[in-house]
Amino acid sequence: MQTRILIVTVGALLAASCGEEPPSGPPFRTETSVSMLMANILDPAADLLWDAVGTVIDENGETTWEPETEEEWLQVRLGAMALAESANLLMMDGRARDQDQWIRLAEDMADAAMQAFEAAEARDVQRVFDLGEVVYNSCNNCHTLYWVDDEDRGRVVESGS
Ligand code: HEC
Repeated sequence: MQTRILIVTVGALLAASCGEEPPSGPPFRTETSVSMLMANILDPAADLLWDAVGTVIDENGETTWEPETEEEWLQVRLGAMALAESANLLMMDGRARDQDQWIRLAEDMADAAMQAFEAAEARDVQRVFDLGEVVYNSCNNCHTLYWVDDEDRGRVVESGS
């Protein structure tokens, strides 16, 4: 009798776990392609960061610019935070091209962008400039592997590391 009850219980547990629906969460919408996110969120957001601080040397001498007003700093923070959060958009099912390298590259971008955000909060002009380059490299690192005509190229590197 004891055994019988045990078997029934185990059977019930198995049935319950097999018949379970995959875990359901909020109804995320991922119809917007990676390419559309790049062109309409990441690229304009990065420009807010990259254009914020700069120097041009021409026949008029050296011209430098940096954010001065709160509104100008807000643009930098907006760009940096939009980039940091965009990493999550890139990691969503249907957009992530794989579950390791792609994820790491997106996280690298988020880390760089978040540091740029903090630099903007601190109004640290030099650091915003320097982190602009770190962000730029994080874009490039992913593009080298995944923004290629041959869609499978990224997958070759995927398993090794
Ligand atoms: C995790 C990977 C990844 C990261 C990080 C990434 N990109 Fe991309 N990006 C891609 C892929 C993949 C494509 C090609 C998309 C396609 O054509 O399907 C692309 C395409 C683009 C395009 C062309 C979009 C178009 O018009 O089709 C731009 C612009 C771009 N990325 C900008 C950026 C910028 C700026 C950053 C960094 C701030 C960045 N990307 C970071 C993966 C990434």
